[in-house]
Amino acid sequence: MNNFTYSIPTKVHFGKGQIAHLGELKDSGNKVLLVYGGGSIKRAGIYDRALEILQEAGLTVLELSGVEPNPRIESVRKGVEICKKEKIDMILSIGGGSVIDCGKVIAAGACSEEDPWELVLHPEKIKAALPLYCVLTLAATGSEMDGAAVISDLEKQEKWVTASESMKPVMAVMDPEYTFSVSRKQTAAGTADIISHIFENYFTNVKAADVQARFAEGLLKTCFHYGPVALKNPEDYDARANLMWASSMAINGLIQYGAEVAWCVHPMEHELSAFYDITHGEGLAILTPHWMEFALNENTADKFADYGRNVWGIQAEDNMEISREAIRRTKEFFKEMSLPATLTEVGIDRTYFDIMAEKAEAGCQGSFVELKKEDIISIFENAL
Ligand code: NZQ
Ligand code: ZN
Repeated sequence: MNNFTYSIPTKVHFGKGQIAHLGELKDSGNKVLLVYGGGSIKRAGIYDRALEILQEAGLTVLELSGVEPNPRIESVRKGVEICKKEKIDMILSIGGGSVIDCGKVIAAGACSEEDPWELVLHPEKIKAALPLYCVLTLAATGSEMDGAAVISDLEKQEKWVTASESMKPVMAVMDPEYTFSVSRKQTAAGTADIISHIFENYFTNVKAADVQARFAEGLLKTCFHYGPVALKNPEDYDARANLMWASSMAINGLIQYGAEVAWCVHPMEHELSAFYDITHGEGLAILTPHWMEFALNENTADKFADYGRNVWGIQAEDNMEISREAIRRTKEFFKEMSLPATLTEVGIDRTYFDIMAEKAEAGCQGSFVELKKEDIISIFENAL
């Protein structure tokens, strides 16, 4: 196990009715910028409830609405402008990962003289951020408990991750009932995203990080169990609650600290989203089994076999056999969740393979199995 510093500062209020805690925002000042997306929070009644609580707490609320899935730098710039002009004290993001990510970079941009795109390209330029609060409405990215934000400039066909300790949410409200209204497509994509975050941490070359690995396997089993339950019955509280908590645990550091490895399926997927604006979790579901097939070899079979034995309960003598069966079951699972299995299904062809692979390569340095540009192209080819 590697050395690490554990720092997960987000205060979480988890469960039914926990939105009542929004009154705590007054600890950070008087003026809040409420950031949200295309209207799902209004339809679900979350918007009205939040405003009621904020007003009762005596807070002045300004708004930035219309944040896009795969949030754009233009929305971040608008938010920063409001913060500076109105002397905003804190940000409250209510929504999925896109809204929370947008809120994070607004919070950082408000404390900087740089153009926000500079803060996306150069995370080290983020020196401070306004306090960020969030109410999560979609179990997927884990943005509610991490310091990362993914922002796109679609005109340039670019989508990059930035990160800073200062962007970690101060507080997150997680009410599983708020995810009852999430569509089948987003429920499936969100589950695939959670699973991918766990895989990205689990497939590491660091030896003897057993605590992290066994946590990860438990989280994977939870997702494989509850994903289909949530698809079948969107109002199953236990399924929504377990997926929601798994989304945070997958990426908040718990299974990563001491076992660090560069991620590689995410850099590949971010190129797909940057060029084609597809749903992140769908891209991951398409690429993951092909990445696994590529990564399986004599040296990695022990790790894949751990996955097969401990998560899927596969019994066999030969680690290669267990590994192949585990990959097959992973693929089957995504199919059972009605996720797309090929790039063609989401409208992607070979046109940009070369440039996408070139851009993804740097992000894949130091991953479980090293990926070169030509390896990435072959994974894309196999996923067509
Ligand atoms: O915009 P609204 O109307 O709110 O609708 C959203 C959006 O259309 C809808 N939705 C959210 N909550 C809902 C709901 N619909 C009904 N009921 C609810 N309760 O779902 C749609 C997708 O929302 P979005 O926020 O885009 O989804 P997600 O949470 O999957 O976020 C995806 C973004 O996060 C990035 C992705 O790349 C992508 O840009 N990621 C962020 C990470 C992080 N910060 O750590 C890590 C991830 O790997 C990921 O890259
Ligand atoms: Zn992800």
